[in-house]
Amino acid sequence: MNNVDAILQAGLAAVAAVTDLIELEQVKARYLGKSGELTELLKQLGKLAPEERKAAGATINQAKQAFEAAHNDKRDQLNAAKLEAQLAAEALDVTLPGRGSVGGGLHPVALTLERISGLFRTMGFEVADGPEIETDFYNFQALNVPENHPARAMQDTFYVENGDVLRTHTSPIQARFMMNNEPPIKIVAPGRVYRVDSDATHSPMFHQMEGLWVEEGVSFADLKAVVTDFLRRFFERDDLQVRFRPSFFPFTEPSAEIDVLGERGWLEVGGCGMVHPNVLRNVNIDPEKYTGFAFGIGLDRFAMLRYGVNDLRLFFENDLNFLKQFN
Ligand code: DAH
Repeated sequence: MNNVDAILQAGLAAVAAVTDLIELEQVKARYLGKSGELTELLKQLGKLAPEERKAAGATINQAKQAFEAAHNDKRDQLNAAKLEAQLAAEALDVTLPGRGSVGGGLHPVALTLERISGLFRTMGFEVADGPEIETDFYNFQALNVPENHPARAMQDTFYVENGDVLRTHTSPIQARFMMNNEPPIKIVAPGRVYRVDSDATHSPMFHQMEGLWVEEGVSFADLKAVVTDFLRRFFERDDLQVRFRPSFFPFTEPSAEIDVLGERGWLEVGGCGMVHPNVLRNVNIDPEKYTGFAFGIGLDRFAMLRYGVNDLRLFFENDLNFLKQFN
């Protein structure tokens, strides 16, 4: 029984050295398990003389209790440390400033589109839409631009495999709408358009808005009134000077460029004219009965003028520092 103390000391040292709960249970098994070192000593008690048995039994039990106490302390210690670590890992610092949420905003061209659509709605115009991949028929032929007509060169665009094009203007929406609706027709049609063009004032993708009013008795005077009224309201200047400068478009006759007088002189903001009788015929509307006017404006140009932006490309670079200024 002399080795009880040696076994206990070794056991206590082993418990002290342990660093996790699994290891601790393994150490416990080594001393108090079925064939643990202290258990083996108890088993040998029977071999002792009866007079020695009592004292030896007491010594071994004390050693066993001392080991168990050390084991329990260590277990509590390890559990506490584990909880501590878990709490530290999951700590939530409620004093940190919040991340905040960033509100989205509309793009300046979208803001301009909304504003212009709104102005035309108050004048009784509906907002119409059409596809960006357009057939040659609607993009050109219905609009009185036959195949091989030189006017096509001004609107060089991206051709899709089957002969369709990325629409070069919003004018095809006119033709589509007239094909599917009876006069009176009074629409504006905003959207993306495409051309092979790229510099500070031209982008291969840009935005236009088409206007169309077809009804009995619509005249060039109506065209001037609607366009001038719109421009004065858009620029918020009742005395804004508007000029209709004779021009050519295949789909209108007569045709004009729309100019406004700015600080640096006359500025072109769109094209317009009386819908060509051929266009009406192409979409099954009787040109003897109905007349109409159409116009097309560049939405990006309007956004540039309204916000004082001098490079069109800024609109399409998606730089948040630029875009944030409009919201
Ligand atoms: N579609 C023309 C263009 O993109 C603009 C235009 C001019 C539209 C006259 C019209 C119009 O509806 O009447 O250059």
